[in-house]
Amino acid sequence: MDVRVFDGKAAASKAAFEVIKDAMNHGIQTLGLATGSSPVDLYDDMTSSDLDFSHMTSVNLDEYVGLDPKNDQSYHYFMNQHLFSKKPFKQSFVPDGQAADIEQAAKDYDRIIEEHPIDIQLLGIGRNGHIGFNEPGTPFDGGTHKVALTQSTIDANARFFEHEEDVPRYAISMGIGSIMKSKQIILLAFGEDKADAIKATVEGPVTEDVPASVLQKHNNVILFIDEEAAARL
Ligand code: GLP
Repeated sequence: MDVRVFDGKAAASKAAFEVIKDAMNHGIQTLGLATGSSPVDLYDDMTSSDLDFSHMTSVNLDEYVGLDPKNDQSYHYFMNQHLFSKKPFKQSFVPDGQAADIEQAAKDYDRIIEEHPIDIQLLGIGRNGHIGFNEPGTPFDGGTHKVALTQSTIDANARFFEHEEDVPRYAISMGIGSIMKSKQIILLAFGEDKADAIKATVEGPVTEDVPASVLQKHNNVILFIDEEAAARL
């Protein structure tokens, strides 16, 4: 695994941006995108650049079940706010968390991913090592699926909601099998809260208990992390 440690989130995000810019200059078509605070600086770099995304496709990792795209905590809303409203893509896919039939929506999303092979997948990481919303115990070979969020993830997300009971309990997430098919993966992690997850990802055994540890089996992964997240390596 290629682990690059930077003095702060801004420097790490700029370096990740340069990798994306270079790949776009070499003709990539599809970006896999992530939500959360980790990619925000990178999205700022993208929107303030002169890069044109209007020929590109994006495929997002996940969405909460039951939140309207207009809800400011939905991942649809997040992506519009941070990226798509400023840099429109030719087409942008985000899982449909409002579908009446979530199982069917998951199958439809897998077909979208097959039709648009991901050149670079961006990832954040949860404190328990989750990627997308693939919580510990998720099979490494799965596709898009409905997820019951763990208490640790619900607690981590509670700060964004007025009441704890408003935090969604379910999500729809791209599977680890699909993430692993991406040609290249960029993982961003910042702050001491992520230090244990980063250690387990990079140095621990490859185990479904730490979803991100699967990345050890991918041949083109770069971690852009700050010194706090790297503290236990
Ligand atoms: C959520 C998202 C993940 C993200 C994680 C960490 O669980 N589904 O994709 O990586 O939060 O978020 P943050 O970057 O805010 O720490």
